[in-house]
Amino acid sequence: MTSGEYRITVDPLGREVACRDGMDLLEALREAGIGVESVCGGRGSCGKCRVRILRGEAGEPSAEELERLPEEHREEGMRLACQVFPRGDLVIYIPASSLTSSQRLQLESGLRPGEFDPAVRAYDVEVELPEQPGDAGSDLLRLRESLRRGTPGADAAAIDIEALRTLPRALREQAGAVRAVLRGREVLGIIPRKRSPLGLAVDLGSTKIALFLYDLESGELLSSHGLLNPQIPYGEDIVTRIQQATEGKAGRLRELAVKGIEEGLSAMLEESDRERGEVFEAVVVGNTAMHHLFLGLPVEQLGRSPYLPATDLPQEVKARDLGLGMNPSAVVYLPPPLAGYVGSDHLAALMAARLEERRGPCLLLDIGTNTEVALQVDGRVRCCSCASGPAFEGGGLSCGMRAGEGAVESVTLDPRSGELELAVIGDAAPAGICGSGILSVLAALVRSGTVGPDGRLVEGRPLVARGKDGLYLTLSQGSGGGEALTITQNDIREIQKAKGAMRAGIDALLEEAGLGPGDLREIILAGAFGTYVDPADALALALLPPLPITLVKQVGNAAGAGARSMLLSQNARREGEETAERIEYLELSAYPRLAPLFAADMYLTEEAVAAAKARFKLGRQA
Ligand code: FES
Repeated sequence: MTSGEYRITVDPLGREVACRDGMDLLEALREAGIGVESVCGGRGSCGKCRVRILRGEAGEPSAEELERLPEEHREEGMRLACQVFPRGDLVIYIPASSLTSSQRLQLESGLRPGEFDPAVRAYDVEVELPEQPGDAGSDLLRLRESLRRGTPGADAAAIDIEALRTLPRALREQAGAVRAVLRGREVLGIIPRKRSPLGLAVDLGSTKIALFLYDLESGELLSSHGLLNPQIPYGEDIVTRIQQATEGKAGRLRELAVKGIEEGLSAMLEESDRERGEVFEAVVVGNTAMHHLFLGLPVEQLGRSPYLPATDLPQEVKARDLGLGMNPSAVVYLPPPLAGYVGSDHLAALMAARLEERRGPCLLLDIGTNTEVALQVDGRVRCCSCASGPAFEGGGLSCGMRAGEGAVESVTLDPRSGELELAVIGDAAPAGICGSGILSVLAALVRSGTVGPDGRLVEGRPLVARGKDGLYLTLSQGSGGGEALTITQNDIREIQKAKGAMRAGIDALLEEAGLGPGDLREIILAGAFGTYVDPADALALALLPPLPITLVKQVGNAAGAGARSMLLSQNARREGEETAERIEYLELSAYPRLAPLFAADMYLTEEAVAAAKARFKLGRQA
């Protein structure tokens, strides 16, 4: 930074930007290419450009901020970026709801893969083709000799049968000047000189599939793509899909997983103007049920105690055996699952977050229909899986929907007037509430006393009314003939159950390590939900153990980042396989204190959780 400039550290993007003296924060972020929502163009009237000041001197709130931001948000350091004129270095946090959609996508891939050392490599060769009747030696022998001559250390000990079928013609068409694609010592194919091999990294989630297409020669990310898992009509959660597979739909579920990957791959190849035959390797991570269904392994045993996976080893399969439309010789690498309900996606996430190397004790959470939790203490990692259900993704709620246009993603409630202000994705009329939105709503309702710490709606509070099925709260009246958006007592119970299940898993791991919630130094949130949830809401609702908000990090799609690392680096694969052997798994269903922990963790404030635990004589408290 030059004199007259301040350094602004921007979380969760991990960026540092300069802000000149007298410049507002929104302008500094814009200059650095960070997309922040600003409907009013910086006049302080839309309230869209919210950021939280974590450290540093940001001056007093302006009149516009006093009007737009509720007091409790200001107390947590929330400001409007367009109204802040830094007076020194700052550390700020931008909630996902304040980021533009393209910026959010970038955040999804916030963790960069490490070293570049792919398993698949291309070598230029000059193969001398036989001209005289007496010339001996097969095409493959000549290719091997040319490889050895051209590149010290490069050696072909085997060739895939499909590659062998194309070898003679490919050599003659290119007059012997070709590129040989090898994986280790196996020849996978022959490509023209100007082409390079491609690789595919896939995070095969039960809800979403995220795909990344790489050039394996340059290491460049050519394209990325996300789509909903086409298996969803067969059940939102893993347990239902396991049941469906057990009832004879396993083949259909496998086909749909392949179809999803194919669809994403096609879109990316078209965008990059490349061809399927150029894709020589894929790395696929996913939860254990997805891994098994994709490979055509039985899943019955995953649905029954003690919930055992069929394998704990990495697997390499030819893409053609899986029906994947890539080069016929291509190989699909799948890292090992860790347990029946902790998959290779969690392994990939903890590799990407470098969990073992962080200063512990620290937690990594991948929140979804199943929440995987890993606790690292002194380099030792324990993990477990919590059946949090679909509520965090908007499922099972009368008002729930996926995060998409029309979904309420955050809300602020004026405690005096009781008025609600909804932030809706796409600035559309509110049609439902997504997972991060329901936490925002619930946190606002608990703060205002509209919902008690035990989760009950309080009769007589503004917006609360009694219907034939009990109390409910009207979030928006609906307009233009649209339906009113309401939250029922049952919706709140569903969130409490999801939250209780997840926090109970965290507490069980802490108990096992002989720690209390206050011993943690860091919490890392991964996955889509973890990216968009406001940590202040998660802390306010005791979803997370009590920790200063600055120690909660959001890292985006860490499983996808881990899959990308394993595609680009053989070393990352080896490290992942070694880590998988070290990780200790805690089976929560057999944990003796799970039921009382769950009951205590259903409360919606940290004080109420702690009081319940004291009543039940559970664990060490903060
Ligand atoms: Fe509208 Fe800041 S841009 S309030």
